[in-house]
Amino acid sequence: MAIKRTWQLWLLSLLTHAILLFTASSQSINGDDLSALLSFKSLIRNDPREVLSSWDTSSNTTNMTAPVFCRWTGISCNDRRHPGRVTTLNLSDAGLVGTISQQLGNLTHLRVLDLSTNSLDGDIPISLGGCPKLHAMNLSMNHLSVSATTILPVIFPKSLSNVKRNFIHGQDLSWMGNLTSLRDFILEGNIFTGNIPETFGKIVNLTYFSVQNNQLEGHVPLSIFNISSIRILDLGFNRLSGSHPLDIGIKLPRISRFNTINNRFEGIIPPTLSNASALEVLLLHGNNYHGIIPREIGIHGNLKVFVLGYNALQATRSSDWEFMTSLTNCSSLTRLDVAHKNLVGEMPINIANLSKELIGIYLSENQITGTIPEDLWKLNKLTSLNLSCNLFTGTLPPDIGRLPIINSIFMSHNRITGQIPQPLGNISQLIFLSLSNNLLDGSIPISLGNLTKLNLLDLSSNALMGQIPQEILTIPSLTLLLSLSNNALSGSIPTQIGHLNNLIKMDLSMNKLSGEIPKAIGSCVQLSFLNFYRNLLQGQIPESLNNLRSLETLDLSNNNLAGPVPLFLANFTLLTNLNLSFNKLSGPVPNIGIFCNATIVSISVHRLHVLIFCIAGTLIFSLFCMTAYCFIKTRMKPNIVDNENPFLYETNERISYAELQAATESFSPANLIGSGSFGNVYIGNLIIDQNLVPVAIKVLNLDQRGASRSFLSECDALRRIRHRKLVKVITVCSGLDQNGDEFKALVLEFICNGSLDEWLHATSTTTSTSYRKLNMVERLHIAVDVAEALEYLHHHIVPPIVHCDIKPGNILLDDDMVAHVTDFGLAKIMHSEPRIQSSSLVIKGTIGYVPPEYGAGSQVSMDGDIYSYGVLLLEIFTGRRPTDNFINGITSLVDYVKMAYPNIYWKYWMLAQPTRETLKNW
Ligand SMILES: *[C@@H]1O[C@H](CO)[C@@H](O)[C@H](O)[C@H]1NC(C)=O
Ligand SMILES: *[C@@H]1O[C@H](CO)[C@@H](O)[C@H](O)[C@H]1NC(C)=O
Ligand SMILES: *[C@@H]1O[C@H](CO)[C@@H](O)[C@H](O)[C@H]1NC(C)=O
Ligand SMILES: *[C@@H]1O[C@H](CO)[C@@H](O)[C@H](O)[C@H]1NC(C)=O
Ligand SMILES: *[C@@H]1O[C@H](CO)[C@@H](O)[C@H](O)[C@H]1NC(C)=O
Ligand SMILES: *[C@@H]1O[C@H](CO)[C@@H](O)[C@H](O)[C@H]1NC(C)=O
Ligand SMILES: *[C@@H]1O[C@H](CO)[C@@H](O)[C@H](O)[C@H]1NC(C)=O
Repeated sequence: MAIKRTWQLWLLSLLTHAILLFTASSQSINGDDLSALLSFKSLIRNDPREVLSSWDTSSNTTNMTAPVFCRWTGISCNDRRHPGRVTTLNLSDAGLVGTISQQLGNLTHLRVLDLSTNSLDGDIPISLGGCPKLHAMNLSMNHLSVSATTILPVIFPKSLSNVKRNFIHGQDLSWMGNLTSLRDFILEGNIFTGNIPETFGKIVNLTYFSVQNNQLEGHVPLSIFNISSIRILDLGFNRLSGSHPLDIGIKLPRISRFNTINNRFEGIIPPTLSNASALEVLLLHGNNYHGIIPREIGIHGNLKVFVLGYNALQATRSSDWEFMTSLTNCSSLTRLDVAHKNLVGEMPINIANLSKELIGIYLSENQITGTIPEDLWKLNKLTSLNLSCNLFTGTLPPDIGRLPIINSIFMSHNRITGQIPQPLGNISQLIFLSLSNNLLDGSIPISLGNLTKLNLLDLSSNALMGQIPQEILTIPSLTLLLSLSNNALSGSIPTQIGHLNNLIKMDLSMNKLSGEIPKAIGSCVQLSFLNFYRNLLQGQIPESLNNLRSLETLDLSNNNLAGPVPLFLANFTLLTNLNLSFNKLSGPVPNIGIFCNATIVSISVHRLHVLIFCIAGTLIFSLFCMTAYCFIKTRMKPNIVDNENPFLYETNERISYAELQAATESFSPANLIGSGSFGNVYIGNLIIDQNLVPVAIKVLNLDQRGASRSFLSECDALRRIRHRKLVKVITVCSGLDQNGDEFKALVLEFICNGSLDEWLHATSTTTSTSYRKLNMVERLHIAVDVAEALEYLHHHIVPPIVHCDIKPGNILLDDDMVAHVTDFGLAKIMHSEPRIQSSSLVIKGTIGYVPPEYGAGSQVSMDGDIYSYGVLLLEIFTGRRPTDNFINGITSLVDYVKMAYPNIYWKYWMLAQPTRETLKNW
């Protein structure tokens, strides 16, 4: 019995030891993985979707078949031979903010690392060179290569003045050549600068290589073109240059996607690309390639996307056009873009014989001759057809009306003759129809009235006759443009014109229209541009015009209009261009409102000629701005307070001079991050809620007149506002400095990524090379952020605050490129007493952004902020300052924008240009 017991005990003890041993050994193997993952987690500063909440060692540690972390979100351990080792770390699109831990290199069995679409910054850890099995790495859509470790509270350096220095240098990625097992290597959408390292050529099994959408420059190393396994090569949206090896198609026999869109590549398109039998996507748009397009490019028949527009390619002899013939082999071709080149002559084939899968055809801005194929209707998947600015002749084939889903037809600036075919009215999907500047005659078919989705109808500069069909004036979707100008249209303007109550721009000038201007015009309340110039209109100017308060341009000149000059025009605040000359108007010219701002008033002896051009500064497209603002406003969810904000000190909890002095190392120049007429801004560190937090300290220059007032108004304004898109005030300091002089400072949240001004206007020569070019989506987001901030100030607090100094320099961007409005030094609080509201003070603001009415002594108003916001929008999207010196007699940013798109509209432009967003789907 006793013996038996001993034996049992012995067995039990053995078992226990075995278990302990197993646990111990498995822990020694996994220790590195566990601590690497915990280290990764510790450097994540924000995890909004709480994906890392499962990353917790305390739970279920007893499961012995696999270590706890194998069940964490985003982790898998699929190596049979090394159970319990991390093989996949996939936290794509998780909203993570932070840096990537160096310790990831300890995950030596890692095969897949996918951290794409987060807000990670800093460097790619060099230790990943110790992950020999890594075969897929996707770090796209982050902010990598900007060293931002400096804004971590824990390892916060004494001085933040080196933040910018870190921006300048892109990380040297040559060590990545050691990751020889990589097959997928995706670094899209980061901020990498510098060259593509030569060592990447060592990654011999690479199949998917994408560095699209960074700021890389220089030549692509030849070694890359030796990696015969490459299938996808995405180099688009960088600043890469040089030409490609002529034997590229032979060295990369498997290539299916070759993308260099929007770089600075030059040289010829290597003819050997025709040998790459798997080539499906060829995106070379927007470079400087010259020479001819390889003749046999489509010979293997696999091309789906052929986008070569905006290069210096040419075709002069008929043999140069043979590429088109080879494209007839490609039965899956969806996009054909050879726009804006020097393609001269007739196409050797009928484009209707190309693939039936075609979605978009862009042949604009060449010198292509020939006629528009009768059987184009066979392309029944076509949505965009752009043949504008060519030499097409012949008539418009009536069967074009059989294209079932086409939504844009651009055929302006050709030599198309004959009538507008009536079946065009069958294309119920049509949104854009431009046939301007052709030789079309006959009347406008009433069937066009059936195009109920049309936004833009441009039939100008043809030889159209007859009356304006009332049907086309009842298209409810007509919003962007109705232009029938420069034709031979006659009869009176139908009263149905009043149905166009969403239309922004109407041009009926240079026709033979007679009769009176219909009173119904007063319903077109969205109009900002109305032109009846050079017709035979008579009678009085209708009173109902008084409703068109959005008008910026009104031209009724060169008609037979009689009666008095309408006084109500004096109250049109947006009107900048008014021409009533060469009519039979009589009576006094009012000397109020817009009429007294007139810089040119000409009155002839026989008739009263009033020619008024109120060039009221850069107020352009105000309507556009207002509409954009209202549009954004209505779409915004209110997004007001975050109550848990540690920054929200009560302002009565003030800070002393000594504390600020300590925080900024005695206001040392190394800590100075900005200055202006108000004073200086320093960076410093303060302990807030037991964390060392970087703050911006704005020290007011009290010698400056108005500085105290500015301080008070800023305090007053900031005390009440709490919004994510406004820079937060932490506390204030008002006292005496060490010399006993008065000292005032504001302590603000530190927004780390510089001002919008720096991002928009960085030049490559200055230290600001670190500011990469903002993409369209980022610009749009910034515009929306500022609109949100303004809407909060204007509509969500009582009394409202007018900022008075909206400009790029006062918009700061954070890590996530979220915009924060700052500088309330000029802000006005809109109390109800008009005495305070009216500005007896000199209005400051910034030239170029101040609304012109402020100069004329009018009151500070929210509209003034909206004006500045409008200028800001133009600046955001054009990259030009309102104060720039424009060439060719252009005096304002407005005219500059107008000149760039004389006959083109924003939507059209967007359609014609492949964007990063559209490219994703190609
Ligand atoms: C532990 O594991 C069990 C069984 O897998 C599960 O039901 C439980 O929710 C886990 N506990 C924690 C804290 O994750
Ligand atoms: C232990 O982990 C493995 C692998 O993740 C899992 O299949 C198993 O169900 C877990 N066992 C318990 C008791 O949680
Ligand atoms: C993990 O990596 C870090 C840095 O690369 C290194 O210092 C450390 O010794 C490694 N091992 C463990 C167990 O953390
Ligand atoms: C890359 O490989 C070379 C040669 O094998 C080695 O000397 C170097 O240390 C490696 N670099 C990294 C970052 O692992
Ligand atoms: C490349 O792939 C081949 C075939 O799969 C494999 O044998 C070779 O080891 C790989 N090379 C590297 C460096 O991973
Ligand atoms: C417009 O469409 C309606 C219904 O589809 C049709 O009856 C009518 O004939 C069309 N009008 C013209 C002018 O084509
Ligand atoms: C212009 O506006 C002023 C003030 O709002 C108003 O009194 C006046 O009647 C208006 N004039 C016309 C002609 O509408």
